[in-house]
Amino acid sequence: MNSKGLVVLSFCLLLIVWAECQKEKPSKATEKKVMKAMKGRETKVSKATGKKAQQEAPKFLKKGQAKPTTAASRQQQPPFILTRAVARGQFQKVPDTLVLRAGDTLDLRCKGRAIKWRYPPYLEDDEVERRLRIKRFERHSQLIVVNSTAADTGEYSCWSFQCHDSECHDGEDKLSKAFIFFTDPQELFVPTEDYYEVIQLRTNHPTLLPCQVTNPVAKVTLHREFPPEKVPVDGIDISYDVKRGFMIHRPRPSHAGSLFCMANVDGVRQISTKYMLIYVNYPSSVPKPTIQSSVASFRVGENFNVTCTAFGEPEIAIDFTWEYPGQQMGRPPYVRERTDLVRRSGQVQQESESILYIDEARAVDDGLYSCIAENLQGTTTVSTRIRLLPATLAPKKAKSG
Ligand SMILES: *[C@@H]1O[C@H](CO)[C@@H](O)[C@H](O)[C@H]1NC(C)=O
Ligand SMILES: *[C@@H]1O[C@H](CO)[C@@H](O)[C@H](O)[C@H]1NC(C)=O
Repeated sequence: MNSKGLVVLSFCLLLIVWAECQKEKPSKATEKKVMKAMKGRETKVSKATGKKAQQEAPKFLKKGQAKPTTAASRQQQPPFILTRAVARGQFQKVPDTLVLRAGDTLDLRCKGRAIKWRYPPYLEDDEVERRLRIKRFERHSQLIVVNSTAADTGEYSCWSFQCHDSECHDGEDKLSKAFIFFTDPQELFVPTEDYYEVIQLRTNHPTLLPCQVTNPVAKVTLHREFPPEKVPVDGIDISYDVKRGFMIHRPRPSHAGSLFCMANVDGVRQISTKYMLIYVNYPSSVPKPTIQSSVASFRVGENFNVTCTAFGEPEIAIDFTWEYPGQQMGRPPYVRERTDLVRRSGQVQQESESILYIDEARAVDDGLYSCIAENLQGTTTVSTRIRLLPATLAPKKAKSG
């Protein structure tokens, strides 16, 4: 009797606001939507507890009223558009972090038109099992993951791609996201295909060891294989993020070696994939070469050379390549290279040099000489122009005289 009364009450409430909606925007589409929503609401009220339904009904209606999209209402959109079905017809805002159990069904809704989704890469390769389904509706999109596994752990996000007056805006900057853990006592780490992973530790480049746990309460430690020892995690040099893994903020050569993570949940311990860390001396910037030719112009038959020089950090290799006019005519690159340690403005620097020799120059050697200097950060090209001088009258004079 009591619940029936509530149904009637809620229905009346809906009717009143529906009437108001009608006044504001009497479009057929809206009308249909409201009717549909009311039907959904009806069944919901009879199932859910009366109190909750009463609280939620006005909320829903307020949003329904705000729907006619004017510029103002777009700006007033709530910051979240991601909800999750928690029971039939019942939705909740998805918190930043959500913990589900492997095997559970994930049912997300994202409000808006032309919704785009992003989900853990593992699900992208999931064509065989087809556990992921995305359904698109006029005003929302639904993402469902059935028979979830620990490997589905990760970030799920959505945003709406909007077009107004032929101008499209990828609203990715306004995305709504949630990190979802799928706990599995058998899989404390998100499984990966590789038994071990090679990771480059670059000078001054924070490096991630992506041992991602499936349970946020897992106690995770970092270990070295040889010699077997626990690696101290002080939160400054190395820190741990339950949604990403271990981050080495300032890699040093001593960090190199074989490392792995260990997770502990309720006394159950598991180790992660092994990470082979290789230290790479990494330049702080691209090379900054200079180019100089021994002559600005030449006559046929003369010799000259072009020198490319770059100063940089010691033990950082620089590769030089040359582009020169005689190349097309088959002139071989006659090049000599050398490196030296030098003291420059109080610092030990490495001087790298490449010299291109042009012997018995010909008319085809007139033109632009380019030196391309490359290190791990990128390349820089410097050029100089060398001109052929017209034959002088001097030899002719000698002949005639
Ligand atoms: C989900 O698991 C059930 C029970 O094991 C199975 O019958 C069903 O086919 C699975 N669905 C998908 C899409 O894998
Ligand atoms: C480059 O050429 C100039 C003039 O032809 C010569 O004096 C100089 O020694 C050469 N440099 C090298 C490194 O061979």
